[in-house]
Amino acid sequence: MTPDTYRVDESHQIWIGGIRLGDLVAKYGTPLYLLDYATILARIQQYQGALSALTPKGQAFYAGKAFLSEAMAGVLKEHNMGLDVVSGGELYTALRAGFNPGHIMFHGNVKTRDEIAYALTARVGYLVCDSFEELDRIESEAARLGMIAPVLLRITPGIEAHTHEFIRTGQFDSKFGFGLAEGIADKAIEKTLAQPHIRLLGFHAHIGSQILDEAPFVHNAQTLLDLGRDWYRRQGWWPEVLNIGGGFGIRYQPQDQPPQLASVVKQIRDLIAEGTPREVMAPKVFMEPGRSIIAEAGLTVYQVLVKKQVPGGKWYVAVDGGMGDNIRPALYQAEYQAAIDGKADWLPTQHVTVAGRYCETGDVLIREINLPPVEVNDTLVVFATGAYNYSMASNYNRVPRPPVVLVDQGQDHLWIARESYADLVRADRPWTSVAWEHR
Ligand SMILES: Cc1ncc(COP(=O)(O)O)c(C=O)c1O
Repeated sequence: MTPDTYRVDESHQIWIGGIRLGDLVAKYGTPLYLLDYATILARIQQYQGALSALTPKGQAFYAGKAFLSEAMAGVLKEHNMGLDVVSGGELYTALRAGFNPGHIMFHGNVKTRDEIAYALTARVGYLVCDSFEELDRIESEAARLGMIAPVLLRITPGIEAHTHEFIRTGQFDSKFGFGLAEGIADKAIEKTLAQPHIRLLGFHAHIGSQILDEAPFVHNAQTLLDLGRDWYRRQGWWPEVLNIGGGFGIRYQPQDQPPQLASVVKQIRDLIAEGTPREVMAPKVFMEPGRSIIAEAGLTVYQVLVKKQVPGGKWYVAVDGGMGDNIRPALYQAEYQAAIDGKADWLPTQHVTVAGRYCETGDVLIREINLPPVEVNDTLVVFATGAYNYSMASNYNRVPRPPVVLVDQGQDHLWIARESYADLVRADRPWTSVAWEHR
């Protein structure tokens, strides 16, 4: 839940990355996103260690949608991680950071023709094809550019993972991928194998996010392997790659028990060893972790600006951020834990709702939480906000987005600057005139 370097000192103050939170607030103001480098690195190494137990070695592609900036792409590059992007903008960010395009996987259920051409000319390692229309677009763009496109097909395996319906993707009724049922995936494979400018490298399936069980991941790998075995029997075609997506859950609440990565990888290793025909190489296993790399490395720091009791006795504390920097509670009832700097290890004696500053009733960051007595001007920290917070942030109400600061061993590094009011109007054009008849 908290970053690995999080600690509370004897005066109840919070430290992260070897820096006192109060010093970071004095330097950068609030709201403020913090990321702890040690936590990011530990999670990267955990994936790389676990996947190296496979033969051939597996590969982790960090899901940039969780959080991406040039600096983050730089960290991934330095540690030899792959990167999964879902838009031209994410691809541009990675390439600007000097990321090796061969280690990039391009996803998305809708990619424009321009994005496909961009990905092909940049020579990304893999395109994950999501629909028949896209298959035609990839083939025609590859033909126009005189290239062979490296493609994985996104399969919808019909696995229902127990997570919020908005972040569940493996069930057949989904906008993503080719369903295994009713022969749709088979038709896609057949068609792909017939394209002269596409090389079908294997399959991809991502079944959802914040999954806390191990079984769905193993089931997913088995399903993709079985599909490969089926096509090997039919046509002698065998997948080089099985990409089982991301979705590993993290601890948002103390009772959350994330799945054990090493155990999942071991089960996958066993099923692949058993299911691979003797004449072919075992497929490479890819994983695409986003949340489980970056979520717990992050926290958001706010200042309490309002405290009010409403009729009925309920207490609201309102902070200087909210749905503009963290849309997840409003979008899918995500739940968070929080602490107050200077009282971080005090007994929680007050039941409050933590509300945001945006003009929506639904702008509530934490609906119910027990905190130590909260006062106006307190610094409130929300934990595990590293994933899908900054990347989903908006300028709703024309509020500038907060900065992102990395902390490591007593040093702070500004990764993304706080937006200014001038940034907000950068793309605006001033009023000039209307047609004559409207005057
Ligand atoms: C295709 C794909 N891969 C990977 C991920 C990353 O998932 P998570 O952040 O839960 O690991 C997602 C998230 O939505 C996804 O859609």
